[in-house]
Amino acid sequence: MPDTDTHSPVDLETLHGMRQRGEKITCLTCYDASFTQLLESAGVDMFIVGDSLGMVLLGHASTVPVTMDDMVYHAASVARVGRYAYRVVDLPYGSYASPEQALSNARRLMDAGGADMVKLEGGTAMAATVRHLVEQGIPVCGHIGLLPQSVEQPGGYKVQGRDAAGAAAILADASALQAAGAGLLVMECIPAALATRVTASVAIPTIGIGAGPDCDGQVLVLHDMLGITPGRRPRFVKDFLQDGGSIAGAVRAYVSAVKDGSYPAPEHCY
Ligand code: KIV
Repeated sequence: MPDTDTHSPVDLETLHGMRQRGEKITCLTCYDASFTQLLESAGVDMFIVGDSLGMVLLGHASTVPVTMDDMVYHAASVARVGRYAYRVVDLPYGSYASPEQALSNARRLMDAGGADMVKLEGGTAMAATVRHLVEQGIPVCGHIGLLPQSVEQPGGYKVQGRDAAGAAAILADASALQAAGAGLLVMECIPAALATRVTASVAIPTIGIGAGPDCDGQVLVLHDMLGITPGRRPRFVKDFLQDGGSIAGAVRAYVSAVKDGSYPAPEHCY
């Protein structure tokens, strides 16, 4: 396990190198200082300070009510003690309705929240915003497939890209985000075979959640992989605490299962 004081910081170049070498990228959501230290001690490469915090920490029914203040508060808690893991922070719902608004909020996440990169949801429709941020020096992670900030829209909360038209739209989204300068791509709840095609079609690392084993890396919501999220567990979630024995053991088991390709297994895929 890494010595967090001597581990070299993970940057975007590190993540691109891992993709090229075929080394899987391990990522978990992280929202506070204690878990930052625990996750780094277990060897996690990258964190997403996700707006899922609205549900798992703040008790909202969706990510929609999450504010910029919420994101800055939690991102700064992670950044204060983070030693090496790459930090991607979500732009919350309503904070990037125009390229100008996106830029001012992204700068706040970088300056006050200590983000290394910001993440926003949407494909082709967000390409101009992504380009604007990247031109101003803000690294951007795209997020395609199931978009939690849009779950109220028809067809929102289900596996995306199952039919030919849906799959083509997701491939086009990935290509538009890459062309706009996105440095990473999160793919949520899409068929594994489609995620394989997307990963082969782009040159940037892909991070999957419910997107099968062929993504360059995997992410899960921390509370889901510890089995403490109430309610029905989505197919792609594995409870690592069951076998891990302790929270640190569960995170180490996740890191090793992602690195050796045993997670996600076929039963976690669409
Ligand atoms: O909000 C979040 O936690 C996310 C990840 C699950 C990808 O966007």
